[in-house]
Amino acid sequence: MSDGSTGNGRKGPRSHPPMFPNPNVLDEVLYTYLRRADRMGWSAYELVEQDSITNIARPERLSEQQVSAVKTVLYVEDHLPGYLSEYLRLMTDPDVPDEQHIVNRNTLHFTFRWVAEEDRHAHVLEMYLNKTGLCAPTELATEMVCERKTAYDFPYEHTVEGFVYLALQEKATHLYYRALARDLDEPLLKSILTKMGADEASHGAFFYDLLIKCHKGDLDALSQKISAVANDFKMPVQNNLTNYRRQVLGLMRAAPSYKHPDVFADMMGAVERAAKQYGRESLQLITPEPVT
Ligand SMILES: [Fe+2]
Ligand SMILES: [Fe+2]
Repeated sequence: MSDGSTGNGRKGPRSHPPMFPNPNVLDEVLYTYLRRADRMGWSAYELVEQDSITNIARPERLSEQQVSAVKTVLYVEDHLPGYLSEYLRLMTDPDVPDEQHIVNRNTLHFTFRWVAEEDRHAHVLEMYLNKTGLCAPTELATEMVCERKTAYDFPYEHTVEGFVYLALQEKATHLYYRALARDLDEPLLKSILTKMGADEASHGAFFYDLLIKCHKGDLDALSQKISAVANDFKMPVQNNLTNYRRQVLGLMRAAPSYKHPDVFADMMGAVERAAKQYGRESLQLITPEPVT
């Protein structure tokens, strides 16, 4: 019987990798994320209410390229129904060992809040494009259907590599929204992208925390996994957009201050800081109290 390993964590025949994440680490990281999410709540309706559209929005200041980039961001966010069904398929798999099943159920506490926040991103952008008159609602809805119809196939099974991929995806969206907000001159869209970017930073923090704390004794192994996954990673749902190359090029041109290599550097930096911190902690543990 094959053990299903393809050597890089990518999909292969059935296998049961070691349990991940560690249940105690998950509890701790979940608490931090969910409490933070409670404090960060915002309403898409409040952001694009008529008053803001009339008094704050300056859609005429956006270039065609910037409007296209916002539409691409919307299509990416709007892939949510597809990737939620993929995650649910993986997380509710009845054939995994019971203890993995229990930890998967607990991981869904994160997933459900996370997808609610991602859904808010698609919703706020769709409302923004329609209410500002930048798009005609029926045309936009048709384009969204077209993009959404391509099946989303998560490139990893429920493994550490899958979580690394998600961490990179969250960090890429965080850094991209921050760059786009900085590079365009429309105050309402800047606020929307800033709110979205803060959510993405919070999602990224969840994955960083989880991965780093689960690898406390072996951060070198985590760094190697990050390097391997980052080699294949470009942008979220990269294979699901029509004319992917054109759309990604448009994203980059609309936000020239976005630097894709920063995504990898940011995650490796977080691992390095953790290694230093853990090093200091263990030094404190073994250094005897000074005798006075
Ligand atoms: Fe998002
Ligand atoms: Fe996100």
